[in-house]
Amino acid sequence: MEVNGQEITTIEGLERDGKLHPLQEAFLQCGAVQCGFCTPGMILSAKALLDENPNPSEEETRKAISGNLCRCTGYAKIVEAIKVASIRIDEVKR
Ligand code: FES
Repeated sequence: MEVNGQEITTIEGLERDGKLHPLQEAFLQCGAVQCGFCTPGMILSAKALLDENPNPSEEETRKAISGNLCRCTGYAKIVEAIKVASIRIDEVKR
């Protein structure tokens, strides 16, 4: 009921024309995906963050993903992947 009438984006909705979103690519390249259970939530939380704040601090990033639990990575690689994606997204916009 809380999302009635709202647009919903799933992890599958981030790919465009067969290309992964920069966040998806960065997660893979940085080793931020292990079992993958938390990955959709992490990436969508990160996308929401970067949509509002294209250059977040590490603290802002950790806060943004805090609603997702990861039992595999220790979060460092996830935070690194989000930073890498933010740089790549910024480069594409220039
Ligand atoms: Fe396994 Fe996050 S990668 S829970």
